[in-house]
Amino acid sequence: MQIQETAFVISTYRSYHEGISKDPYAKLWNNPATDALIPDILKNVSEYEAVLHSIRNRFFYEEMNSFFEAHNGGTLINFGAGFSMYQFLMNKNVSTIEIDKKDIITYKKERIDSWTATGKLPKRDIQYAAVNFTNLSEEEIVVMLTPLIKKKPTFIVLEGVLFFLDQHTTHKLFRVFKNLQNSRDLVGSVSYIPEIENTKVYKRLLYYFDSHNDTNDSFMHQTTPHSFYENIDGYQLKHHTDEFELSKIYAPDSIIEDKTHILNEHMYILRRV
Ligand SMILES: C[S@@+](CC[C@H](N)C(=O)[O-])C[C@H]1O[C@@H](n2cnc3c(N)ncnc32)[C@H](O)[C@@H]1O
Repeated sequence: MQIQETAFVISTYRSYHEGISKDPYAKLWNNPATDALIPDILKNVSEYEAVLHSIRNRFFYEEMNSFFEAHNGGTLINFGAGFSMYQFLMNKNVSTIEIDKKDIITYKKERIDSWTATGKLPKRDIQYAAVNFTNLSEEEIVVMLTPLIKKKPTFIVLEGVLFFLDQHTTHKLFRVFKNLQNSRDLVGSVSYIPEIENTKVYKRLLYYFDSHNDTNDSFMHQTTPHSFYENIDGYQLKHHTDEFELSKIYAPDSIIEDKTHILNEHMYILRRV
């Protein structure tokens, strides 16, 4: 499985639970190749993956929506955007910068332009940037993105990406964020805590990735401790929760007995000081 395929899988998960994800546009990306992958993942990794990813989307949807409502618009900067569709879920006074690897960005822009032209999507102010976080330097990324930010304040989202990066790139990205943002701007980030490495479900996830790695795509399996978020230069940790806790609010009918039985991702909201 290529990293890019994970973006299709997650978008399809969101389409399974529109009421929870609040994303009626996710289904536009559904396709037979991705549909064929999902039953195996739900069976052999965890049956809760689709609902948990929908909960994750809902969390960020609520956070960014209330931020932009309070500020009467601004810019959403989506690092590793994949096929997420927040840009259409926000009010039209919100501009968006979509950042990902070149092949995702090229394909996404082409599909979005076509669906917008045919009225399947509402019109939004969207800019695209093809960036490989690993290959480019902090300065190169900042120089590329700074001119694209036309409206303030900004909300940066880094969702479903850190798992695939190493520590060096992670630290670089947070320095980029510090450079791009002003006081009181927000970052939303997702990661696994290191304790998950001892759970059976996480071992099943790694086994799945390893046994389906039919490409030369090498990627990390990064987990991140809370202390990382408590010590980021230029940021204060404002809010922290996890999918298990959020499932009680957004999916009370999904009976998850124990948080160690699921791939429980943690979500962090950081405020630029
Ligand atoms: C699991 S998907 C998540 C997509 C989206 N954020 C979401 O939650 O639906 C991970 C995304 O990170 C992107 N990504 C991974 N490593 C990257 C890198 N080094 N540079 C740029 N993008 C990267 C992938 O291309 C992919 O779109």
